[in-house]
Amino acid sequence: MKKLLVGNWKMNKNSHEVAEFFKTFNEHFSEKREAWIASQSIHFPIVEELKTSGVKAGLQNCSEHIDGAFTGEVSPRALKDMNGHFVILGHSERRQYFGETSRGLNAKVRTVMNEGLVAVYCVGETLSERENGQTLSIIEDQLHQGLNDQSKANIDNLIIAYEPVWAIGTGKTATPKEAQEVHAYIRSILQTKFPSFGDKTRILYGGSVKPDNIEELLAQKDIDGGLVGGASLKAKDFLALCGDK
Ligand code: PGA
Repeated sequence: MKKLLVGNWKMNKNSHEVAEFFKTFNEHFSEKREAWIASQSIHFPIVEELKTSGVKAGLQNCSEHIDGAFTGEVSPRALKDMNGHFVILGHSERRQYFGETSRGLNAKVRTVMNEGLVAVYCVGETLSERENGQTLSIIEDQLHQGLNDQSKANIDNLIIAYEPVWAIGTGKTATPKEAQEVHAYIRSILQTKFPSFGDKTRILYGGSVKPDNIEELLAQKDIDGGLVGGASLKAKDFLALCGDK
C-alpha cells in the first residue's frame, strides 16, 4: 500500500491561498504517495473543486450526529454528500481546547465510519505523561475508549494517527525509533481488538514531520504515513513529503 500523507491545515489560509497551493501542488504531484487535505470546513468546496483528482479532501472535526438541531455543527453525512473522504477526530488541540475525550470521541468515530467516511483517530501522550513512563498506558486507554464496540464491518474505514503532544508544532520530533515503538504497540492492540484487520490498519505518525525527517520515519516498519500540520501549508514542502520535488 502507498504511504499516506494527510495535511492538517488547521485554522489557516484564505481562499486565495488555497488556490495558490493547488496551482503549485497539482503541477508536480505524481501520486507516488497518497495525499489527503483537511482544510477548514468553509474551504472544503474550494479544495474539492481545485485539487487534482489524486488528492482526497476531508475535515478536521465533525458532529457525532448526522442531522438535526445542533447549531454550528458540521454533519458527516453532509460532508459525504459533498464528496468528502475523511475526518480527523480527537486531534490533541480538540482534546486540549474543546474538551474532547476518548469516550466522547467513540460516538464520532462510529458515526463517521457508518457514513462511509474514513475516521483518522488521533492518540498521543503529553510530555509529562512521557516523562512519567505512562506513554503506552495512555495510548492504550485512548484506543480502548475511542474504539470500544466499533463495528468490525467498518474497520476498513479506520486510520490511527499517533501524535505525541509534545512534538506538535514544537519542532521536536519523536525519533524514528521512539515512534516505531509506539506504532508497534498500537498495531498489537489493533490486532487483538480487530483480528485480521489490525495488520492492515494504517498508522500515521504526526508531530513536526518535515521534508528532512520524513524518509527516516516512513522507513519504520509500522509507520504507514504522516499527519502533517505546519509543513502541509506550503505546496513545495507538502510535495517533498509526498516524494515529489
Ligand atoms: P505539526 O502539526 O506538523 O505542525 O507539528 C501536526 C498536527 O498537529 O497534526
